[in-house]
Amino acid sequence: MTSAAVAETRTFPPSAETVARAHVDAAKYEEMYAASIADPVAFWGEQGKRIDWIKPYSQVKDVNYNFGEVRINWYADGTLNVSANCLDRHLKTRGDQTAIIWEPDDPNDEAQHITYAELHRRTCRMANILESMGVRKGDRVVIYLPMIPEAAYAMLACARIGAIHSIVFAGFSPDALAARINGCDAKVIITADEAPRGGRKTPLKSNADAALLHCKDTVKCLVVKRTGGQTTWIDGRDFDYNEMALEADDYCAPAEMNAEDPLFILYTSGSTGQPKGVVHTTGGYLVYASLTHEITFDYHDGDIYWCTADVGWVTGHSYIVYGPLANGATTLMFEGVPTYPDASRFWQVCEKHKVNQFYTAPTAIRALMGQGNEFVEKCDLSSLRILGTVGEPINPEAWTWYHEVVGKGKCPIVDTWWQTETGGHLMTPLPGAHALKPGSAMKPFFGIQPVVLDPQSGVEIAGNGVEGVLCIKDSWPGQMRTVWGDHERFEKTYFADYKGYYFTGDGCRRDEDGDYWITGRVDDVINVSGHRMGTAEVESALVAHPAVAEAAVVGYPHEIKGQGIYCYVTLMNDREPTEELRKELRQWVRTEIGPIASPDVIQWAPGLPKTRSGKIMRRILRKIAENDFGSLGDTSTLADPSVVEDLIQNRANK
Ligand code: WTA
Repeated sequence: MTSAAVAETRTFPPSAETVARAHVDAAKYEEMYAASIADPVAFWGEQGKRIDWIKPYSQVKDVNYNFGEVRINWYADGTLNVSANCLDRHLKTRGDQTAIIWEPDDPNDEAQHITYAELHRRTCRMANILESMGVRKGDRVVIYLPMIPEAAYAMLACARIGAIHSIVFAGFSPDALAARINGCDAKVIITADEAPRGGRKTPLKSNADAALLHCKDTVKCLVVKRTGGQTTWIDGRDFDYNEMALEADDYCAPAEMNAEDPLFILYTSGSTGQPKGVVHTTGGYLVYASLTHEITFDYHDGDIYWCTADVGWVTGHSYIVYGPLANGATTLMFEGVPTYPDASRFWQVCEKHKVNQFYTAPTAIRALMGQGNEFVEKCDLSSLRILGTVGEPINPEAWTWYHEVVGKGKCPIVDTWWQTETGGHLMTPLPGAHALKPGSAMKPFFGIQPVVLDPQSGVEIAGNGVEGVLCIKDSWPGQMRTVWGDHERFEKTYFADYKGYYFTGDGCRRDEDGDYWITGRVDDVINVSGHRMGTAEVESALVAHPAVAEAAVVGYPHEIKGQGIYCYVTLMNDREPTEELRKELRQWVRTEIGPIASPDVIQWAPGLPKTRSGKIMRRILRKIAENDFGSLGDTSTLADPSVVEDLIQNRANK
């Protein structure tokens, strides 16, 4: 990532054809961006009209970024319903158009084409089922499902009745699931018997059973049949979705929601403590998700759009479900993985469904690049027009491969930088407006004012050719509003370090032309295969094991995953470091958090480098993990400098 920021000098201007087709060309971008900054109220007041309101708003923006009084409101006196915006308002004009193309894990199983009319009926039925289970406006519903259409029905059904959903990625363990159910005090969890992925099956229902042992016994469980695999059943607690859907009514009236009523909670990792529940609300979120979806991907009516993310992450929320459906798009939902049955699966799906916009993560691109070009070249990718990436910095080699081998040199790549907290893209090149630079997120989206601050003084660094921490100067409608149940944590995390700004946690460089390059997190959050992880979470999982006295976890560069998880573990005095114990600890973390948190390296550490006041010097641990011993910096302030020598000597050989 940093190498790209320093070494990359190529630029790729859009073709005349791309420009001619684009919603936004260079001149329009300049004009709209300037207008959005000069008068945000006028700009967003106008943009808000792209969705349907029950009661139109008269206020547009009410924001205070001052630490201690942070308040973020958009369209605050308007009312609307998100599911009506994603469904009902399309029925007249595109009821028979495919809303969701569902591509199952196994290519031999049939794909489904779900029209807007069908999606509306399915959503209404699910909404009625939830209501019959006692779910009311403002109640929380946890969704723990495979990538199946029912996941979209469930999200939209919650939105329809005003329940707040919280999706938990199916790769999380029962413990992590229980923590999230309890964290938002959910009334119902929606799950499936099993989740097929890459030919294997995750036992979701039995994970949910295990999680529910740690939850209030009033929590009910709605079970969708996916594989038909056997599950245990508790009468009175477990409900059979497929059976109930046969009986449920096809219509459910959409609830009138306030623009600032929560739409969903999504737990995400931070630099300290346990994951926090990011809260997104109704009106501003939908305006922002739909506008960015249309402009960034240059979506036009009739296009087939595919985002390969999982609905368990924010990308799936904004760019599989809410943004595309609000725009009346055809959105593809894929249950499987890029390498099953083999490394041509993505490209076969593109060919089969004639995908026009394709949006994925750099980690997938790197994994597929390593398999050879023949997997791509045997597929007809002529439908592709726009390519996108998200989740982590993309290295120039992967960018070039994506551009040349997948896009045949003619598809612009939108490198979209954003976060769970931001609801939608904050920086990205726009296909018809910007000359691409491989690895650069290029330009702010409308209404976004990025600033580069000096990390120590917090003073804004003006001019170009500068580097520092990335903050945002003012709010945008898609911004998170609070941390669920803990507004103080929200303020402390995002508004305390750099007063008056939203602090992103990322570092960035603004190059000589004023274009932005994300250089990676400046805090203790790591990005593993595009999955965001707090090192503190992995540490607390490790120290919960009886053999572990202390643990420190850092990220290190990993060829495919972007970053890998490197753990330094100090054992209890009476424990011997064995291979067996290493395996046990790895399994332990998988059980505590989930397979996505599986440690890549565990190094036994008789001691950890600490300051005299007992603070672990992570900077040093990061350097050792990176195999970069030359720049350890000043170690003289350590309580015991000799531990560093030991760690270097025994650095795991991986
Ligand atoms: C990183 C994912 C470089 C960044 C939508 C951010 C990126 C974190 C990019 C958020 C990108 C995301 N280039 N880095 N295009 N996109 N990131 O919350 O460090 O899972 O802070 O949201 O991913 O991860 P999250």
